[in-house]
Amino acid sequence: MTKTAVLAFSGGLDTSVCVPLLRDDDHYGYDKVIGVTVDVGQPEEDMQEAYDREHILDEHRVIDATEEFVEELVFPLVKANGSYEGYPMGTSIARPIIARHCLRVAEEVGADALAHGCTGKGNDQLRFEAVWRAGDFEIIAPMREMNLTREWEMEYAEEHGLDVEATEEEPWSIDSNIWSRSVEGGEMENPANEPPEAVFEWTQSPDDAPEGGETVEIEFEEGVPVALDGESMEGVELIETLNETAGEHGVGRNDMMEDRVLGLKVREVYEHPAATVLLKAHADLESLVFSRSQIKFKQTVENQWSDLAYAGLVDEPLFDDLNAFVDSSQEVVTGKVRVKLHKGTARVVGRESENALYSEEMVSFDTGGVTDDIDQTDAVGFAKYHGIQGRMRKGQKDDK
Ligand code: ARG
Repeated sequence: MTKTAVLAFSGGLDTSVCVPLLRDDDHYGYDKVIGVTVDVGQPEEDMQEAYDREHILDEHRVIDATEEFVEELVFPLVKANGSYEGYPMGTSIARPIIARHCLRVAEEVGADALAHGCTGKGNDQLRFEAVWRAGDFEIIAPMREMNLTREWEMEYAEEHGLDVEATEEEPWSIDSNIWSRSVEGGEMENPANEPPEAVFEWTQSPDDAPEGGETVEIEFEEGVPVALDGESMEGVELIETLNETAGEHGVGRNDMMEDRVLGLKVREVYEHPAATVLLKAHADLESLVFSRSQIKFKQTVENQWSDLAYAGLVDEPLFDDLNAFVDSSQEVVTGKVRVKLHKGTARVVGRESENALYSEEMVSFDTGGVTDDIDQTDAVGFAKYHGIQGRMRKGQKDDK
């Protein structure tokens, strides 16, 4: 009986080292290793890395899931204003898509095991396995099980003729998809060190960004961005275009300490230009069209949504419930938002919607706010009641 393992394969050091380890009789002893590379919109060079190394696999399957990723997780994230500890999540929402495709291949080929190259310290092991454990496969995580170090891996790679690029000058661990790029490791492991300019690839240094800046207009339909500067675009194209534009203005860099699910902190550096602009614009549009109660309650939903998404728990029943609420709220989130991009900042400078719960007529200083329905003098009674309990207490104290 041939024993087959399906490996989530990027072609980087970790997943490349997994291949001979999975075959090695002294380690896992599998006969066949099928690598699955899922395209979630990572840059071409990243995809190339997988192709360059595919000869070490018995079989390589490449699956284009960029559109699926955008429709099934990126846009739901925009609608939910999803963010974790203040940054737009990226890696976490792509993992379930990658994991689902690996699981499907494993089922198709009747594999015995599913393997990933994640360490035992990060979040990604949890995100993969939350999806994989729905199937009946052995789960293998060599980095975690063997407690491997980078140094050991580089040596093992050389012994096995893996020809993975020497990464001494740029020893960072990078994860990219269409929505976000994250970099950790190397000198950045010391949180006191400023990230070297060389870690940034999607964003211009704000110092070198064009002086005058640029204003972009995003049009939303029911919470989903559908046009950029008046031009209708599908999700993938819109995000790619906005990544370019906002990136040129140095928008979307983030350097932070992040709390992982296991409780370990990590210093992470992010680039997410389009995400920064779209999330700002979307939340701003909601502030124009939502009632005060909707805004307040939705924040609770957003926090829950984000925690589940960060942990990779997209199959948790509550996640569907939250998405149902979010979708219902988005019916009115249609309109246009203009965002000024300037030297690393993105600032909303204008918004409009036919669903606005705002009336210039009612609030205007110029007209005195008099309409057929209301005028300022109506507020006198309200103002008399306002703060009544505090005044009662104060009176009691003064009497003592
Ligand atoms: N800390 C982030 C997360 O857990 C990103 C991890 C991505 N991995 C990397 N090698 N940079 O979502």
